[in-house]
Amino acid sequence: MIRLENVTKTFGTGAVALSDINLSIEKGEFVFIIGPSGSGKTTFLRLLIRDMVPSQGSIVINDIDLIKLPKGKIPQFRRKIGVVFQDLKMLMDRTVFENIILPLEMADVDRKTAEKKVDEILQQVGIFEQKNKFPIQLSGGELQRAAIARALIFGPEILLADEPTGNLDPTTSWEIVKLLQDINKLGTTVVMATHNADIVNSLLKRTLALEKGKLIKDTKEEKKD
Ligand SMILES: Nc1ncnc2c1ncn2[C@@H]1O[C@H](COP(=O)(O)OP(=O)(O)OP(=O)(O)O)[C@@H](O)[C@H]1O
Ligand SMILES: [Mg+2]
Repeated sequence: MIRLENVTKTFGTGAVALSDINLSIEKGEFVFIIGPSGSGKTTFLRLLIRDMVPSQGSIVINDIDLIKLPKGKIPQFRRKIGVVFQDLKMLMDRTVFENIILPLEMADVDRKTAEKKVDEILQQVGIFEQKNKFPIQLSGGELQRAAIARALIFGPEILLADEPTGNLDPTTSWEIVKLLQDINKLGTTVVMATHNADIVNSLLKRTLALEKGKLIKDTKEEKKD
């Protein structure tokens, strides 16, 4: 369902963030992306949401060729891919509820349906009680859950999470990973970029390792050999 062929991303500065990446991720997989800072993890995720296009190569998601995707169709495409950014991108002057309902408002979903959907998602991620708080009033774990809730609002087929345990203590980190696993069990493909070796080593999920933009390891391939 996600297929990258010979994907290279070079920035205007000359930085080669990704170099000749070939891989595919099937529907329902749970995949970790690991690698040192600067190895290309965030760039990889940004390419998948068509935040930018590769300099070379092709990316196809559910039969949609992202390079050929017209600009006007990008919003509709993004509803199928939820993303939790490394810096979360929550709007600080809006409550949790207002942050999460915003994408539905922008998509002109009627108010009653939207409110019901937000309540359901807040229950699912376990922060219903925090609904009317502002981001600054939440703990790190709660804030991460709010960002996950917003990413799930359109019921995406794929959820991308960039360092979702980055600033959390070990217990809270595990709670977030368990939440992502629950979401995965309901059928959503999950791709999680992380530095957290503990979590990666304990879970035995497929792991893609990047180093200086190159895919140096794909545990799925190892198992096949
Ligand atoms: N917009 C940009 N313009 C120029 N260079 C960039 C840009 N974004 C990323 N890079 C460079 O591309 C490389 C990969 O960056 P990326 O953010 O993907 O790494 P990362 O693996 O997510 O790192 P971290 O673990 O620190 O989040 C780095 O060398 C970075 O400096
Ligand atoms: Mg990053």
